[in-house]
Amino acid sequence: MPNSEFFRMFRAYGGIGRGSLFFCYRWLVFSHEIVSDAVPERGLIYDLGSGYGIFSLFLALRRCEREIVAVDFSKRRTASGRRAARTLGLDNIRFVEEDFFKVDLRPSQAVVLNDVLHHVPNWDDQRRLLGRVCELLAPGGKLVIVDVARRPLLKFCLGWTVDHVLYFGDDICYLQFERLKSFLADNGIGDFAVRPLDAGRPYSNVLCTGVKR
Ligand SMILES: C[S@@+](CC[C@H](N)C(=O)[O-])C[C@H]1O[C@@H](n2cnc3c(N)ncnc32)[C@H](O)[C@@H]1O
Repeated sequence: MPNSEFFRMFRAYGGIGRGSLFFCYRWLVFSHEIVSDAVPERGLIYDLGSGYGIFSLFLALRRCEREIVAVDFSKRRTASGRRAARTLGLDNIRFVEEDFFKVDLRPSQAVVLNDVLHHVPNWDDQRRLLGRVCELLAPGGKLVIVDVARRPLLKFCLGWTVDHVLYFGDDICYLQFERLKSFLADNGIGDFAVRPLDAGRPYSNVLCTGVKR
């Protein structure tokens, strides 16, 4: 459902035009409010692999006490997010154009990996990224992952097709949640929970959360 953030962000991504088309698509397929409610209301928050920054901007708009750092190595996507943030007059968000394996990161209250992990091409690299993230979280800090589950099967097949068309030629590596849970537990993340996000949405997304001990 459109809310006040929708209309402000729609204008910031260019109003009626090409830029806002992708924004509208993301708005329809992604549960911004549910995931935002899982993110702490204040403190330093990294959104790694932030793309066009749509969810990062939503987080910043919702709570001005959040200091959002959105990291993505795509120049075009970070520039688009930066432009939208400027249009919205937000001063609690920063876009960093860099590789999330290499960028300097400070201890934080939360790290968000939103539709990112399955674009990291294998478990070794996914583990390397998650290991960095676990170290980075301050005690009590929250890990928020949105990714793809294999059920419901039809929704998974739709997501699989879109991933393999939009990111043609890339290696896509979907998560195994038991393996993820055990890796996170070994790296200081407790209270791990997975909940479905697909109600009323076309893809088989799930929301995983955990807290640094
Ligand atoms: C499917 S998009 C998700 C974007 C955003 N999180 C969202 O939900 O709209 C994955 C993003 O991860 C970024 N990405 C992949 N590998 C990266 C890396 N090593 N460093 C920084 N960004 C990366 C890509 O550029 C892309 O924008």
